[in-house]
Amino acid sequence: MLSQTRPAGSDTLTFLGAIMRNPHQLGAIAPSSKAVARLAASIVPTTPGAVVVELGAGGGVISDAIRDRLPPGGRQLAVEVNEGMVDHLRRSRPWLEVISGDAGDLGKLLREAGLSQADAIVSSLPWTLFEGAQQKRVLEEIAASIVPGGSFSTITTLTVMPFQRFRHFRGLMNSTFATVATLGPIWRNVPPALVYTGVTADNRLAGEVTGG
Ligand SMILES: C[S@@+](CC[C@H](N)C(=O)[O-])C[C@H]1O[C@@H](n2cnc3c(N)ncnc32)[C@H](O)[C@@H]1O
Repeated sequence: MLSQTRPAGSDTLTFLGAIMRNPHQLGAIAPSSKAVARLAASIVPTTPGAVVVELGAGGGVISDAIRDRLPPGGRQLAVEVNEGMVDHLRRSRPWLEVISGDAGDLGKLLREAGLSQADAIVSSLPWTLFEGAQQKRVLEEIAASIVPGGSFSTITTLTVMPFQRFRHFRGLMNSTFATVATLGPIWRNVPPALVYTGVTADNRLAGEVTGG
């Protein structure tokens, strides 16, 4: 039987172990702080029945922040590529729909889960570990998987800002979403972090305004 409780610190220990075994997949030196997790989850709709997808759930700190905000009756899914973290999430959070897979296959993974789109997508993917073409592919999958007018959030640390791959990703955010905003920084995260949010275009509203 799955346990509803977990020993204190087990998320962090499991995550740090995964970082040591596979630093180029994890892309972090520590789990996100609760403050950053809450900021990233602030886009989660509070409407009943909302569907929220998390990308790169790792040790689960953001999963917990999403759960705190999502009203009962919604669906919360988490896509994670690292098998050790997938096992940890399934053991420690039986309430979470954990999908073992690559965020670059998001559309297919959602269809397999019986969904076409989500109301919001929350990410802590390591964008600067991705080549430019992979950044574009993953971001296109994300934008196509969010309902019109739905929200996306993604965490980034201040330490990656000098890198060309970060600038490439930041440019893709602007070209992918109708509006982009910056939240933070959260200085007490290790390292300090920002959250970018994006909202998908909502042509239904334009149609209503023009009568189309
Ligand atoms: C920076 S860590 C964030 C972990 C956790 N959400 C947190 O904030 O502490 C990035 C996570 O994304 C996962 N990841 C990396 N590439 C991925 C991909 N292509 N698809 C899904 N998950 C991926 C890593 O295994 C890792 O758990």
